[in-house]
Amino acid sequence: MPIVGIDYERCNGCRLCIQECRFYSLDEAKNNVLFEDLDNMCMLCGHCIAVCPQDAIIYEDFGDEAFAFEGIEKLDSIVPYDNLYKFLRGHRSIRQYKKKEVPKNILKKVLDLMQHAPTASNLRYEKYAIVSDQEILKSLSDEVIDTLFNKLGMRAQYGESFEARKKNYANPLFHDAPHVIFVSSMFDMQLADHNIGIIITYGRLAAQSLGLGTCWNGFINIASQHNKKIMKLAGVRGKRIGAFMIGYPNITFKRAPPRSRKPVKGLKLD
Ligand SMILES: Cc1cc2nc3c(=O)[nH]c(=O)nc-3n(C[C@H](O)[C@H](O)[C@H](O)COP(=O)(O)O)c2cc1C
Repeated sequence: MPIVGIDYERCNGCRLCIQECRFYSLDEAKNNVLFEDLDNMCMLCGHCIAVCPQDAIIYEDFGDEAFAFEGIEKLDSIVPYDNLYKFLRGHRSIRQYKKKEVPKNILKKVLDLMQHAPTASNLRYEKYAIVSDQEILKSLSDEVIDTLFNKLGMRAQYGESFEARKKNYANPLFHDAPHVIFVSSMFDMQLADHNIGIIITYGRLAAQSLGLGTCWNGFINIASQHNKKIMKLAGVRGKRIGAFMIGYPNITFKRAPPRSRKPVKGLKLD
């Protein structure tokens, strides 16, 4: 169990860790031993570590260290809304990539931030893979398109658009991106798709902050539910899968497109 307890030499008794913990059990009789029965309850969210003003939570074996930085207590000073607004509105799905691989140290940064995405109950049941081998990506593309057309009867819906893409791309599914990142989940429930979606969004935004472009690939998700070979080719195991292309964009956008605002029940937007 990575959370071992409290360093009472440092602890000032503020109890913030207890207030913050979703599952705390405080046994007054045992001299305020926090985390009673921890093995059964703690979901390793690390909020106790994050909140302690004295850095008094003792932990081990997270495979990572807590990260303190200037501005942690005022995150809006690091990315104020106006900057985030531009960053998110300028965020585009990229379907044209330079024929250039992304250096491993940059890809690592993307995959690192993906693993800081929240997951339901902090379970973190996801597996990750990156495929850069264009032959494997071509086999995946063929397998996905075959599944969509021949197993799922989607030729009428997508046949023409894939045919058109073949004129510009050797790999019409992945738009000739140099890399595709896959995230799979061992969970077979809808929450798994939420987790994967959030993880991918973290990765895509991290990529954008590094000068990279990305695009979701929803077809992988659909086809993988009907063809086991897809996960195998992607090199991941699990019940659900999500994927996105990543590379250096070969296109620049001059403005963000207009998007009508959907009405929000309970709040007038204009
Ligand atoms: C869940 C999801 C799946 C998507 N799947 C694909 C896909 O398979 N291929 C593709 O080219 N774009 C895909 N997209 C990109 C959308 O088409 C794109 O987000 C939308 O057209 C808006 O464009 P923008 O992302 O540039 O704002 C997907 C987006 C999402 C959110």
